[in-house]
Amino acid sequence: MSYYFKKIGIASDHAGKDLKFMLIDFIKLLEVEVVDYGVSVETDKAVDYPDYASLVAEDVSRGKLDGGIAICGTGIGMAIVANKFPNVRAACVWDEFSCRMSRAHNDANVLCLGGRTVNYHRAADYVKIWLSTPFAGEQHKIRIEKITNLDKKRTSS
Ligand code: RB5
Repeated sequence: MSYYFKKIGIASDHAGKDLKFMLIDFIKLLEVEVVDYGVSVETDKAVDYPDYASLVAEDVSRGKLDGGIAICGTGIGMAIVANKFPNVRAACVWDEFSCRMSRAHNDANVLCLGGRTVNYHRAADYVKIWLSTPFAGEQHKIRIEKITNLDKKRTSS
């Protein structure tokens, strides 16, 4: 199977930590390079998801990573934060179809998952679909360009 992301970052808060470590092992089996942006295994207290979403989103935004995965309790907080960064298109997915569409239609480059809403098996399934689904281009390209233009407007003002 071929994957459209060669190097990805992954980050979580405390609520996504267990799932994050399981997914790191899974992603390594797929032979996709994965960089852990925290929270670290030693941290046993609650942390703030904006801090960790920012780390991975910043490197996606700057092109240092092809993509990212961000995990909190629901994935929602991570998506809200990651989408503040130019050129980041972060998506929360809730089934295999939404996962595939987030790549094919939205060219999502950050996958947001909920450590309290999906179990490992479903999350691993989503990760595999997400990493292997190409952007469909064509009419969707124009829509992504419109999103990029919004980013440009925001960063130039
Ligand atoms: C932490 O309790 C929780 O609020 C956080 O992980 C996340 O779900 C926020 O969106």
